[in-house]
Amino acid sequence: MYVCICNAIKETDLRAAARCCQGNAETLYAALGRTPQCRQCLEEAEEIIADELCGDRSAAMTAH
Ligand code: FES
Repeated sequence: MYVCICNAIKETDLRAAARCCQGNAETLYAALGRTPQCRQCLEEAEEIIADELCGDRSAAMTAH
């Protein structure tokens, strides 16, 4: 599923970037070599990033 239509960023790409890089949606877009255009996707992108990071924390907690 595409999160950002303007830049053709898929949810899987954004989740991978969230695991590799720290920062908000605009920072991760930049890491992917993209720049927000219409900006309508940023709120959803932030939610996906938070979800991905929260999932990592849960996995780390169960590993200990
Ligand atoms: S849909 Fe992402 S900038 Fe337009």
